Amino acid sequence: MALVEVQVPDIGDFDEVAVIELLVKVGDTVKAEQSLITVESDKASMEIPSSTAGVVKELRVALGDKVKQGSVVLVVETAGASAAPAVSAAAAPAAAVAAAPSAAVASTSAAATTGPVEVRVPDIGDFKDVAVIEVMVKPGDTIKVEQSLITVESDKASMEIPSSAAGVLKDIKVKVGDKVNIGDLLAVLEGAVSAPGPAPVAAAVATLAAAPAAPVAQAFSPAPAQAPVATAPSAPAHNPLGHTAGLPHASPSVRKFARELGVPLNEVQGTGLKGRITADDVQAFTKAVMSGSVQTKAQAAKAPAPASGGAGSELGLIPWPKVDFAKFGPIERKEMSRIKKISGANLLRNAVMIPAVTNHDDADITELEAFRVLTNKENEKSGIKVTMLAFLIKACVAALKKFPEFNSSLDGDALIYKQYYHIGFAADTPNGLVVPVIKDADKKGVLQISQEMAELAKKARDGKLGPADMSGATFTISSLGGIGGRYFTPIINAPEVAILGVCKSQMEPVWDGKTFVPRLMLPLSLTWDHRVIDGAAAARFNAFLGQILSDFRRVLL
Ligand code: COA
Repeated sequence: MALVEVQVPDIGDFDEVAVIELLVKVGDTVKAEQSLITVESDKASMEIPSSTAGVVKELRVALGDKVKQGSVVLVVETAGASAAPAVSAAAAPAAAVAAAPSAAVASTSAAATTGPVEVRVPDIGDFKDVAVIEVMVKPGDTIKVEQSLITVESDKASMEIPSSAAGVLKDIKVKVGDKVNIGDLLAVLEGAVSAPGPAPVAAAVATLAAAPAAPVAQAFSPAPAQAPVATAPSAPAHNPLGHTAGLPHASPSVRKFARELGVPLNEVQGTGLKGRITADDVQAFTKAVMSGSVQTKAQAAKAPAPASGGAGSELGLIPWPKVDFAKFGPIERKEMSRIKKISGANLLRNAVMIPAVTNHDDADITELEAFRVLTNKENEKSGIKVTMLAFLIKACVAALKKFPEFNSSLDGDALIYKQYYHIGFAADTPNGLVVPVIKDADKKGVLQISQEMAELAKKARDGKLGPADMSGATFTISSLGGIGGRYFTPIINAPEVAILGVCKSQMEPVWDGKTFVPRLMLPLSLTWDHRVIDGAAAARFNAFLGQILSDFRRVLL
């Protein structure tokens, strides 16, 4: 028995790549070459294999960590003493092979031309026969130098192959499913200008150098990687999210897994870091399709046309209006953030698939607000600020306990009643809406909830929420109280069955039976899934919530 630290091997001359997936956990038995983590640069993702077999004793990296050659990934307990050489084998520095790219450079070293230019697969290590999984351009497109043309994938890594020249794409010579090798003809450009400095192939290699060309090669083959990157100039930075538009954000092994199951990956919602699709997401999607709660687009297309006729989309709607806005005035086109794209797809599904109803009500929070102000005064030194939302979370837990169907989820024809109370809260961030989750809110006091909420909201605004911070909610609150408004109709965050929307409280004259008295009233909007909840139950839920908020001692009952 020996404890061995498994390190990131020599994966080229790039450093600081982000860990986007942990593929093993403490206690797992791993084989040599088994993938341990997935890392990602702006052009490629790859899995880092283990240099040795054994049992995982300790994980030394977390999601979002940046790693480079030599970073310890985990500690493995091995059966014998043979592990050390395996580690050093994995970490053996790659041999620099500048010869291959420079030979290609020599054959195509024209600095500029107007005639057709052939773009070929550059030297990206010693892997062979990698599959084209996406063609990102079409004839007629104007191509820039370094623009990604295709994505290729092995069982361990995927990468984009950039163009070595600029021009108009005359012909694309590969299609999805083709296998390509170094030197294969990818495309022909016309009116092309090759990259200044390095010739086409070298330029392509250079791009892969900024992204990991060598690591890709290494991941493809456990043998020491060739490293054209050793001499390649660095490439400009790329938007890590923008260039993969169209290709689902998932590691090669997850894509393979999805292919085996026949899962359309572009319909799967990613819950991993940066919206990445994980193996669990593929599994959850499969389960949802099998249980009938979700339909794939192909299934929906085969479904009988609705009574209104089937001329439009699969819902039988007329097509989305296409307007040339520029005809009417100046415009600017901006891609939506990834969060917006992901949440938009979710919101649309939830809005379309859930028969949702919203009840509006008001809660008298006059005393509770006075108590909140007092609490903040008394706790001034602690640095913890209590907002109404923390009290609302606690009040909702009490209501969820009294009306358990609000804390349930649909599973086919059955309801899953959850006996834990994890409350999500919508948080506004510069990149869009996210929903961090306060876990086990029933076991926490208002001060602790406030503190956790402040930490999660900060993480959300800094774009640092991990999947664990955003999963497992049983009920969600969307508070616009700090901003304004009267009432709104929040959309349920499936598979939850209800959501509470809260707006800004204000002083209102309330009739006490004899006279109007000024009371601080909090507008509540409860949206609920009519398949699970009846209108009467929703009205009772709101009324109960109102009672608690007007006399918070009831939380104790
Ligand atoms: N009525 C009146 N005032 C309220 C209030 C309410 N219901 N809720 C909060 N406030 C006040 C707070 O007391 C605070 O006042 P202060 O600065 O004078 O102390 C101010 O509004 C700002 O509160 P905020 O920082 O927003 O804290 P919060 O706990 O209420 O909310 C977040 C935290 C993260 C939820 C919030 O910042 C956020 O992102 N809200 C937007 C959610 C959203 O976009 N929902 C829509 C989804 S469709």
